[in-house]
Amino acid sequence: MKIAVLKESDPLETRVSATPDTVKKFIALGADMAVETGAGAKAGVADAAYEEAGATIGARAEVVGGADALFCVRGPETDTLAGAKKGALLIGALDPFNRGEAIKGYASAGIDALAMEWMPRITRAQSMDILSSQSNLAGYKAVLDAASEYGRAFPMMMTAAGTVSAAKCFVMGVGVAGLQAIATARRLGAQVSATDVRAATKEQIESLGAKAVFVESVEGIEGEGTGGYATEMSEEYQKAQAELVSSHIAKQDIVITTALIPGKPAPRLISDAQLATMKPGSVIVDLAVEQGGNVEGAAAGEVAEVHGVKIVGHRNMAGRLAADASALFSRNLYNFLSAFWDEEAKKPVLPDDDELVQGIRLTKDGAIVHERLNS
Ligand code: NAI
Repeated sequence: MKIAVLKESDPLETRVSATPDTVKKFIALGADMAVETGAGAKAGVADAAYEEAGATIGARAEVVGGADALFCVRGPETDTLAGAKKGALLIGALDPFNRGEAIKGYASAGIDALAMEWMPRITRAQSMDILSSQSNLAGYKAVLDAASEYGRAFPMMMTAAGTVSAAKCFVMGVGVAGLQAIATARRLGAQVSATDVRAATKEQIESLGAKAVFVESVEGIEGEGTGGYATEMSEEYQKAQAELVSSHIAKQDIVITTALIPGKPAPRLISDAQLATMKPGSVIVDLAVEQGGNVEGAAAGEVAEVHGVKIVGHRNMAGRLAADASALFSRNLYNFLSAFWDEEAKKPVLPDDDELVQGIRLTKDGAIVHERLNS
């Protein structure tokens, strides 16, 4: 079993899909590891570190040639995968809904593409969940980015020269990223409040010592929602939420928005009119900016200023912590493949009827096989 670790081609991508630690682990399982030259450079991993772990280093064509599996963070162009074996696994965040042509290309090239972001959210798969591992870091980094853009301190400080008051931080969307944002803002000493549409998050917010701000007049999503996810809310709910946000947001210094609905554009949570009520110098970090944004005026890859409010729209937030994000992403891939490892054959065997395999397998034997892509 030869596993190729590809260098990312998107200039914005800083992460890498294997670390020396996971290289060692795969070698211990009996795999040969081939890492593309410079694959880990942006995550602080030198080629020499991979070599020390037992991998070979080479150009794209060399590492891909004869490979049984190809690891990536973002899906590569099909024409760069020539030379891989028929039936080779391509494993990474393949973004199936936005990269339809590329997925067709993988099928035509006889590559079995596995989209890790579609891993079912069940207990067995928690250690393989790239969305969770990356969102957690993104939630943390969003608060640090807010703190660095904010012209004031987060904690209350009583000094001889006077008192600095604590920053008020509001987190909108309390999934994995939102929970980590709450915890981080609390650690920095901010006064934190948070909201979500799923009732189950209320207790989680309070257990982190933050104040839960919820629409009470219209029912939200009871409990967790299907697969832990939210759906689009009724117009009535959206109106009630907008009113609630309007009265709360004018008093906030920092807002972190993380709200996402799978397969849909991000819900709009903050309008231009609401921005106008905020204090100048306030900072918003929109973690949903790449899915259309929760905040009117947010621009992907930019720090915009609207009505004196800074709106931070960094792309690839987890990638801003490239070393940790790579380490966790790589462990997610290892945890997945090792769970299916056949010790005698020294390779993974992915059963057609397994829930995890069905959840992430996009292509097989030259065809697109995933129901979400064929319906
Ligand atoms: P996500 O990234 O899809 O969405 C972020 C948050 O935005 C969610 O909490 C969602 O309810 C909220 N949201 C959506 N529309 C909103 C609106 N209009 N206003 C306010 N908030 C809105 O969610 P994420 O972080 O991927 O996780 C969601 C949940 O999935 C977790 O809290 C957890 O319960 C579950 N989960 C389960 C896992 C497992 O069992 N393997 C792994 C990870 C998460």
